[in-house]
Amino acid sequence: MSGIVIAIDAGTTGIRSAAVDQAGNIISFSYREFTQHFPNPGWVEHDANEIWQTTLTTLQELSAQVDEPVAAIGITNQRETVVAWDRSTGEPLHNAIVWQDRRTAARCRALDEAGHLEMVRRRTGLVLDPYFSGTKIAWLFDEGGVPTENTAVGTIDTWLIWKLTGGAVHATEPSNASRTLLFDIDEMAFNQELCDALGVPMHVLPDVSTTSGRFGTTTSDCPFGAGIPISGAAGDQQSALFGQACFSPGDAKNTYGTGSFVLMNLGSQRPAPTEGLLTSVAWTMPGQAPTYCAEGAIFVTGAAVQWLRDGLNVIGEAAELEPLALQCDDTGGVMFVPALTGLGSPWWDPNARGTIVGITRGTGRPELARAVIEAMVFQTRDVVEAMGASAATTIGRLRVDGGASVMDTLCQMQADQLGVTVERPVNQQTTVMGAAFLAGIAEDFWGSPADAQAAWQLQESFAPNASVDRSTGYANWQRAVDRSLAWASE
Ligand SMILES: Nc1ncnc2c1ncn2[C@@H]1O[C@H](COP(=O)(O)OP(=O)(O)OP(=O)(O)O)[C@@H](O)[C@H]1O
Ligand SMILES: [Mg+2]
Repeated sequence: MSGIVIAIDAGTTGIRSAAVDQAGNIISFSYREFTQHFPNPGWVEHDANEIWQTTLTTLQELSAQVDEPVAAIGITNQRETVVAWDRSTGEPLHNAIVWQDRRTAARCRALDEAGHLEMVRRRTGLVLDPYFSGTKIAWLFDEGGVPTENTAVGTIDTWLIWKLTGGAVHATEPSNASRTLLFDIDEMAFNQELCDALGVPMHVLPDVSTTSGRFGTTTSDCPFGAGIPISGAAGDQQSALFGQACFSPGDAKNTYGTGSFVLMNLGSQRPAPTEGLLTSVAWTMPGQAPTYCAEGAIFVTGAAVQWLRDGLNVIGEAAELEPLALQCDDTGGVMFVPALTGLGSPWWDPNARGTIVGITRGTGRPELARAVIEAMVFQTRDVVEAMGASAATTIGRLRVDGGASVMDTLCQMQADQLGVTVERPVNQQTTVMGAAFLAGIAEDFWGSPADAQAAWQLQESFAPNASVDRSTGYANWQRAVDRSLAWASE
């Protein structure tokens, strides 16, 4: 079959749209950043209209580069970030509240104190943390305007589907819905008891379709034209799990982007929750049982590199990090806990804050740079250790991707600290590839996930070095984490 599938990767810092051919090659792509708003300490917002306009710009640039027929559009998106808008005008009621935003920490504690944690964890597989959408939606309605019959709410997948279909379709799918705190992952539906506990009226929520399947078709606003099927949507981390061809239970990946997210395929059975970790829906395919995943969510890894660049001017660009870090053999005891937006798995402390300990007169830029890389490694080890507490989630091999995974030093240190092999693919745009495959499979552009498996190619494998000391540094890391916890007051 000739033609292409378009994947839209609506990330936290920018939108990447890509054209993928049938062999699974990205033949063209366009990337644009959009504005980050930090209106208060711990708050992070995006302008939903700017996200849509940026998406359109990337699609326009892409359509100027390719002129093959488009079989389908797939969407993957930053998860948990929520938008509320008016169905009649299409105007957002407020800026989107981003996953990193901590403004609902007190709300989460109140829900816990009211005794809801056990019910929430059993139904959603999540924990009560401001990270997830539910308390952000409740905040929008308390502070941003009371919902009316015309109010619609959605994560970024839902917002883009709504815009691409000209307001005809208000829908999401389980990989995104399972991050809202409002979705029961056994029943596969938004749940009244959860909505009541959080204070979210059910009528504002989208319909839940399958991850791979047709949501609707584009209007003529789409630069590729009207009538193109939008046939796949998935949260970026689940999309990367798909793009890494992690199709068997036990297969796991870590994406080192703004934050890092370790996801393991659990198959169609949902095991008992593991302390400190999340259980979510990986994806659903028509006529098949859902695939679940276990997840460790780390909020800040690549974002600490950006902070070294933009906040401290320690480096001029991200690619300078690794060579700078290699100017020293070790950090001289310096530990950086990048709890810049609290800590996620396995600590779940919204009031943790960034901490640098062990500084001496010998500490310089190389030591700091190296500490940033080590923090990625140690935070990942924290969640992999938590996964190892249950046989069902013990990791045997880790596939990696994301902007920071280009660093060989990071990949080797990760293998050494975990004691497992780390594999990096040729095509590290796994988030994009997942969305392309999910949409293309739905429209018979590809036959099955086996085609995604065939397109996956190993670039480099990092075997653990058994002579590396796995205890001393890690013990110091844990002492440093202790010092970062419960720092901010509410
Ligand atoms: N050469 C490099 N060395 C170290 N870190 C890097 C390098 N290149 C990029 N990064 C880091 O990787 C991150 C970007 O990764 P990636 O492109 O995977 O994220 P993203 O998908 O844009 O993030 P999001 O989806 O959250 O918007 C940035 O935070 C950046 O600091
Ligand atoms: Mg991304």
